[in-house]
Amino acid sequence: MSEIALRNVCKQFDSEHYGVKDFNLDIHDKEFVIFVGPSGCGKSTTLRLIAGLEEITDGELWIDGKLCNYLEPKERDMSMVFQNYALYPNMTVYGNIAYSLKIRKVPKKEINQKVRQVAKILEIDSLLDRKPVALSGGQKQRVAIGAAIIRQPKAFLMDEPLSNLDAKLRAQMRVELQKLHKELDTTIIYVTHDQTEAMTLGTKIVVMRDGLIQQVDTPQSIYDNPINKFVAGFVGSPSMNFIACDVYAEREKTALIFATTGPVKKVYLTGQNAEIIREKYNGKRVILGIRPEDIYEYEEAKAGGFEQNSVGVEETVVTREMLGAEVVLYFDEQHKTHAVRLQPSNQTKVGEKVKLYFDMDRAHVFDIETEENVLYRKGC
Ligand SMILES: Nc1ncnc2c1ncn2[C@@H]1O[C@H](COP(=O)(O)OP(=O)(O)O)[C@@H](O)[C@H]1O
Ligand SMILES: [Mg+2]
Repeated sequence: MSEIALRNVCKQFDSEHYGVKDFNLDIHDKEFVIFVGPSGCGKSTTLRLIAGLEEITDGELWIDGKLCNYLEPKERDMSMVFQNYALYPNMTVYGNIAYSLKIRKVPKKEINQKVRQVAKILEIDSLLDRKPVALSGGQKQRVAIGAAIIRQPKAFLMDEPLSNLDAKLRAQMRVELQKLHKELDTTIIYVTHDQTEAMTLGTKIVVMRDGLIQQVDTPQSIYDNPINKFVAGFVGSPSMNFIACDVYAEREKTALIFATTGPVKKVYLTGQNAEIIREKYNGKRVILGIRPEDIYEYEEAKAGGFEQNSVGVEETVVTREMLGAEVVLYFDEQHKTHAVRLQPSNQTKVGEKVKLYFDMDRAHVFDIETEENVLYRKGC
């Protein structure tokens, strides 16, 4: 059992440098929590504060109802895995995995049994007699994870453990880590700058920027209901398209008119969203956000009943990526490149035009100043 709570936690390195500011989070037992955000946003700092490797300058850290700000790392009972896996080079794989139990004077027989069990889970049982030098990057990483999971700590803390692996191994290890989380049945707090890792691994994602939490939610909610433009643009690949638009209330409808010179391109908001935007932003400029998969060709838009909501949105294809199951077309609008994911049957070539239809029920509208998602739904 472990419940970890951070209350208004701050880490100030010196008068100018903050690691994290006013960090509030509840981590429940057995959650797979991901800290994600661009480099330098404070992910490692927060993890190190939880581990006790950095001192909290303000706020409180509670572990199982106990204030732990000043507890020594070893008393916190957390197990860490870093990006640069710290293996002892002159010990075998067996020795490395067994180490933490050995220093705790666990009986040999029990150590042996545990090492074999862990090695089996990680599929490194045939490597137990090797030294780290004779292992590949992926194998070393597994050994490092093995060394961490041999104990049953209150939580595992992992800092970008996969970032030194190549893309294929990383994908494989993602699957392994999910299985491992199920088998270990323990809290994992995991740091990554990779949004795919965050989306696939986490049961709860904490998106960070400049030392501040932006949003805490499930992967699905982060994706479907981002709180601001930063979160919206950070998750998803290709990322969400952002188009500056002028709001214009027509008789029954609320139009978003692309802020570009040339022929008019406009899309209509629907339902309650139309009312919210009309009320607050009529005559003003906003940022429309639409994901590449929420843009369609005519036939599909008609089948979905939203073909009337896009008028004159015709774009010239600048790049075409055939991915087998889908084709991604890129077009330039307002000096930025945007993406649409269409059926692979689409034959539009580079230089040709394609008419596009937006599923406006899935669109987002961001305030141009605050970058807040005006259509954000609380508690969803
Ligand atoms: N020991 C330190 N002294 C001063 N600033 C630091 C120190 N450690 C980290 N920082 C700063 O704190 C911020 C967050 O760093 P970090 O937590 O390592 O980010 P992340 O892991 O998200 O890349 C960065 O701006 C970094 O430069
Ligand atoms: Mg880091």
